[in-house]
Formats: sequence, structure tokens, C-alpha cells
Amino acid sequence: MARGKRADLHPSSARVERLLARFHQIRDFTNSLCAGLEPEDYVVQSMPDVSPTKWHLAHTTWFFETFILKKFVRGYRAEVPEYAYLFNSYYNAAGDMHRRDLRGLISRPTVREAQRYRASIDSHIDNLLSGGGERLLDEIEPIVVLGIHHEQQHQELLLTDIKHVFSLNPLYPVFRERNINIAAGKVVPMRFVEFEETTATIGHDGRGFAYDNEGPRHQALIPRFSLASRPVTNGDYIEFIEDNGYTRTEFWLSLGWMTVNELRWQAPLYWTKRDGAWWNFTLSGFRPVDESEPVTHVSYFEADAYANWAGARLPTEFEWERAALDCPVEGNFVEEELFHPAAVAVASAVSADKSAQDQRLHRMFGDVWEWTRSSYAPYPGYRAVPGALGEYNGKFMCNQYVLRGGSCATSRTHIRRTYRNFFQPEKRWQFTGIRLARDPQ
Ligand SMILES: [Fe+2]
Repeated sequence: MARGKRADLHPSSARVERLLARFHQIRDFTNSLCAGLEPEDYVVQSMPDVSPTKWHLAHTTWFFETFILKKFVRGYRAEVPEYAYLFNSYYNAAGDMHRRDLRGLISRPTVREAQRYRASIDSHIDNLLSGGGERLLDEIEPIVVLGIHHEQQHQELLLTDIKHVFSLNPLYPVFRERNINIAAGKVVPMRFVEFEETTATIGHDGRGFAYDNEGPRHQALIPRFSLASRPVTNGDYIEFIEDNGYTRTEFWLSLGWMTVNELRWQAPLYWTKRDGAWWNFTLSGFRPVDESEPVTHVSYFEADAYANWAGARLPTEFEWERAALDCPVEGNFVEEELFHPAAVAVASAVSADKSAQDQRLHRMFGDVWEWTRSSYAPYPGYRAVPGALGEYNGKFMCNQYVLRGGSCATSRTHIRRTYRNFFQPEKRWQFTGIRLARDPQ
């Protein structure tokens, strides 16, 4: 019996160590992203979609406190009960919440207090996991893992939000200093890779973590199509601008046309024309647009209009997932700390021949989220789980489009082939980009 007991304890402590190591690694990475920020940077909310950095720090902490400590620590008492209201985002089942568009008006708790709150909750999580048995761990582990993925999503938002905040400052603050050389020369030409009609298995297979919206796994008929070998670059997109793409109604969805005119869009977000040349604001400062980088900060409307102009269309999410099956999940993710899409390979005379025969898809993962023409909808048989955590994905399945592949602000350990991101069609502040698809010619 004694031996059996020891055998029970041993795997548990290794499991706890692994889980805690991952937990701390993700929590520390959030802190490291803030390393160059000053206290004044943490509190600005530049538009309703943007949350202040301080709010991200506290909200991700609230998630662990609400869904783990309050549920599993007997007699747990929150040090500051009001944080339940202030740092709840949208979980109605978890209680009332502060107005999202007023997050920038909150000067207290201070940045230092938000950091203290993080450290305090982290040590409670440490104690709970280290002191619990195997059965408790079985219950808590899936929620800790969900909290880790939740935090990774907020790391991406933290970056795109601070980019928007800085972009409105005439001093153009630099988030992270980098030496970026503008690539010279022409990028490899875009080719179209053919896919035959097939019935594909769509959705997550249940091995490892996935969000509930990636299931149930099901069969989908995908007619013949072809998919572009690489994302659309800034150079490609400038041709659309110079061909008066933004003022030619024939390329635009009705709602897109209204939006373009109302908001007077003439280029992707963060682009400005100076002395006849395009410049853009990046997390490394204001610099000339590099034509060889994948275009980013475009809305669904712009992506769709560009595709129409190019005689193509956007892929469905099912086409994308089927095509991604053969692609390794690698690319320019947040771990590279480039915080910007990387230049697409420049074609040389020597490689031109080779690239013409290359039938692979490039840059499916990382760099920019790729808009699909699929509405964000439940897969057949999908039901959100009851309770607050069921509010994570299901209730947003209306008026949004699916994006695939992750971006330069996404963690490598967060993205999957089946991962479904979603945003409203007019949103531009995420690292969103374009990959073209075509029907059989
Ligand atoms: Fe959240």
C-alpha cells in the first residue's frame, strides 16, 4: 500500500511542477512585454476596442482568481473585492462589470498595485497547486491551461493595443528598438496551388488543448480551389491603392463602401503618405513602408475589395484548414520579438527557376492573421458549456469573420491549424492580412 501511495504522489508532483513552470513562464512573458513601458503608458485607452495595459495585467489575473482561487480555495477572501467588478471583461455569469469603453478613466489601482495583485494571485496559485492532490489537480488543470491560453490572447491584445495608443502620439514612441533593413528587390511571385475536391475532416481532434469553438470535428465537402502561395504584400497592395481601389465602388461590399467613405480610409491603418512615399507606424517606430512585407492592419472589407480587384476571392476557413494540413506550424511569432510581419523572400535571378516549380504554401502561420470569407458560426453540433466559461467563445458567433494562422503577436504555443480567431469586418487594429484564393479557372 505504502509503495502504491508513493507511486500516486510522485507523478502528481511532476505534473504540478510542469504545470507551474508553464504558468510562470506565460505570466513572466506578459511582464517582460511591459519592460520598456513607463507608468503613463499603462493607462491610456485610445478607442473603445483598446484596453489599457494595466487593465490587461489585472484582468488576466482576475481570471485565475475568479475561476480557480474563488472556486477551489476553501474560505478564500479576495483582498480587494471590487476587482471582481473592475476587471471582469464580459462574463455575465461571473457578475456585473465596469464599462469596457471607460477602462481608460481608471487611475486606481495604480500600475504598481496591479503588479502587486498579479504577484499575490500567482503565489496563491503556487500554494494551491503545490498543496493539492491528484484529484484536485484533475479538476484545476484544465482551467489553469485555459487561463494560460487566455493570457496568451491578452499578450497579443496588449501589443496591438499599445501600438494603437502609441500611434496616436505625435512623438511616435518606440515600443521596442530594432534595426530593420528595408528589403531591396522584388519578392517571389505569387502562385496559386491547386487543391482537388475532397471531403475534409475539419476541427480539433481532441489531443491537447483547443477552444470549444474548434469542435465538434466534422466532415466538410470542399470543392476544387486554389490558394495563393504567399500572403499579399505591401507592394501588391500599393498597386491596388494606385489603381484607385479605395474609390472604385465595384470592388466593395455595400457595408464596406459605407465604412470606407464614412471613415475616409485611403490605405491600411497606420499608413501615411509623406512626400509621395508611404510610411507606416510600427512598434519599432515610424518608418517607410517595406513593399516586401505582408500587408497588415486591413479590415475584412479591404481584404475582400483587394481580392475582387485582383480577380480572386478570400478563402473559406475550411479551404484554409484543409490547405494548412501539410504546412508546418512555424513562422514569425511573438517569440521572435519582431512585433511586425517579416519580409517575404526576395526573388533572385538564380532562384527564379526554382521558385516557379515550388508548389508549397508559404507563411501560412505567423506574420499576419488571414481573413477568411467564413462567418464565425458554430460547427454542426456545437453547444457552449453551461456557466461563465461557456461565455468564452459561443456568444460571439454573430456578425464576425474567421481569421486563421496567427500573427507576429501570437505565441507559437498558442496557435493550431484548427484555431479560429474572429473579428468584426471593420476592425483593423489587429495584425490582419490577406491570402487570396480562386475558383477553378
Ligand atoms: Fe479576457
